[in-house]
Amino acid sequence: MKFSAPLSILALAGTSIAIPQKGYTTTKYPTTTLAGLEVIDTPLVRDVRKLVEEFNELQPYLYKHVMRTWLWGVAAMNANETLKSMIDPELHAVGTMMHDMGWDMRPNSPYVTLDQRFEADSGLAAVNFVKAHPSARNWDEVRLEKMYDGIALQIEHSLVANKNFQSRFIVQCVQWEIPGPRDPRIPEDDYNNILAKFPNHYASRGTNATFTWFAAHKPASTYNNAMEAFGNENVPGYNSTGHRLYDSITANSIKEAAMYPNSTIYS
Ligand SMILES: *[C@@H]1O[C@H](CO)[C@@H](O)[C@H](O)[C@H]1NC(C)=O
Ligand SMILES: *[C@@H]1O[C@H](CO)[C@@H](O)[C@H](O)[C@H]1NC(C)=O
Ligand SMILES: *[C@@H]1O[C@H](CO)[C@@H](O)[C@H](O)[C@H]1NC(C)=O
Ligand SMILES: *[C@@H]1O[C@H](CO)[C@@H](O)[C@H](O)[C@H]1NC(C)=O
Repeated sequence: MKFSAPLSILALAGTSIAIPQKGYTTTKYPTTTLAGLEVIDTPLVRDVRKLVEEFNELQPYLYKHVMRTWLWGVAAMNANETLKSMIDPELHAVGTMMHDMGWDMRPNSPYVTLDQRFEADSGLAAVNFVKAHPSARNWDEVRLEKMYDGIALQIEHSLVANKNFQSRFIVQCVQWEIPGPRDPRIPEDDYNNILAKFPNHYASRGTNATFTWFAAHKPASTYNNAMEAFGNENVPGYNSTGHRLYDSITANSIKEAAMYPNSTIYS
């Protein structure tokens, strides 16, 4: 059985996995139109849109990136009723639009720490924003955590693989930002409208500049993850050797061999 492993783990945890989830289309949300698409328009979503729009002045590539990320998902779900019924549109909107708050390069950013990865900074920014909003009464811990996980695992596809659908869909929408042919799940007209409204002409270079900035300004957050290469390649004086898991496992193996020379992989 294809899904036997994850299901048995959940069953052991004693959750209500057997109860079928209510389709999200049964919840009526107000909507508006953006880039020709019908999008959710709750007070929370409106406030998140205002918040991220500030970056249109500061880091325009970032603003356009998070808006496209949201709208790829909207286009895909509006074109497929089954998919739409599986998605929590408010969680999706907040999670996609806030997924890179940790890219804020202002010197006193309220979102950016020196030690945490940008994905963790972004996830916390989104959770804190929701918790401080009047709409927080509609968000329990599970809903917040699904959003946090989608943001925190945004570039770790291999870790998000067996998680809940809401988290996976946020990661899918971030994936749609990687340049390449249009995914057929996004209708061509919507694809063109989204790109016309939020062009991606500086997306890769903006990403490179931001990732390089992490390696220069908060190197501790970059060791052992995808940001490390930007430091090694682009930042003079950056040196991750000694900080990697590889380094500690290697050093400890040498110590251990001296302490227990007769132990083998079988003993
Ligand atoms: C619609 O979405 C569902 C859920 O992702 C998927 O299984 C199905 O194949 C999609 N339908 C079409 C026509 O793409
Ligand atoms: C990436 O960004 C760094 C820092 O701004 C820059 O030195 C480097 O040339 C950039 N790489 C590319 C391919 O644009
Ligand atoms: C990087 O750091 C390691 C560990 O401290 C050191 O052995 C190595 O020489 C350094 N490499 C460079 C290029 O400075
Ligand atoms: C390892 O094995 C050798 C040979 O049997 C023995 O002389 C030595 O005391 C052992 N060393 C340790 C640390 O157990």
